Amino acid sequence: MATTARKATTAVLEERDRQRRRTAERLLASSVKLSFDPLTEVDWDAEPVPGAYYIAPRRISLYGTALWQGLTEEQRIELSKHEVASVASVGIWFEEILMQMLLRHAFDRDPTTAHVQYALTEIADECRHSVMFARMIAKMGAPAYGAGRVAHNLGRVFKAVSTHSQTFGGTMYVEEILDSFQREMMNDESLQPLVRQVSRIHVIEEARHITYAREELQRKDLGLVRRRAEQLLMGVVIYFATTRLIHPRVYASVGIDPAEGSRAARANPHWRAAKVEMAAKVVGVLDRAGLVGRTNRWLLRAAGVV
Ligand SMILES: [Fe+2]
Ligand SMILES: [Fe+2]
Repeated sequence: MATTARKATTAVLEERDRQRRRTAERLLASSVKLSFDPLTEVDWDAEPVPGAYYIAPRRISLYGTALWQGLTEEQRIELSKHEVASVASVGIWFEEILMQMLLRHAFDRDPTTAHVQYALTEIADECRHSVMFARMIAKMGAPAYGAGRVAHNLGRVFKAVSTHSQTFGGTMYVEEILDSFQREMMNDESLQPLVRQVSRIHVIEEARHITYAREELQRKDLGLVRRRAEQLLMGVVIYFATTRLIHPRVYASVGIDPAEGSRAARANPHWRAAKVEMAAKVVGVLDRAGLVGRTNRWLLRAAGVV
């Protein structure tokens, strides 16, 4: 009886390893065919196009509010630039967290496997992305706002101790949110060419990362107690990753008091709807992986994504 059960478990584990290998081989082949060097493939010397937004007005956190009505067209464009810079700097914050988590994932596994070699390849992608985002922020002449002190320091702990589910669940969440924003940006011809080029490179390379994370998540079986704990931490990640996207200081770039701007954005139904729309797909995936439930739904509501 015990031997039969052991054999069945071994068969399941072998099948899991086969799946892992197939996915990683496919992703490695795709990386060879379609990867970018942003240092040479983005036109860093081009001047900004006068009158063009950096992100569509309807995706700006103050869009539709009384404060928005009070801004001139130039100020609205300026705010769009600072919000893109804020999101990109939070992108760097998370990519640095992710690189360390992927290194820890690789550290404990056999480096001759395609699965680990893809983890290392993804770190190389993220490394180029962070340089690309940093250069874009500098080129726009905006500060690297970052995620704020609390989230920054929570990230310091998280990247050192995150579990498998948190590593890949957190990754999926942040990558999918950025992906939704950037897919729109790369396709919107009215926007600044710089942000469109950066978005396009990121969307193409991130599609592989999202596949890798999604399949890893689906491979994990969690018991009830463990699932509750993972949900709670996942909720904390979602809360901070979402509420820190737009740094309050961006509002000062157009003469709005940061606290007042933040309050208006939080209460803005347009901004809330944008966040719900951007998060809809990934919340569905996390839900199917058992990472959304009673334990964290309140945090998702507080983050404004459900
Ligand atoms: Fe990235
Ligand atoms: Fe990524």
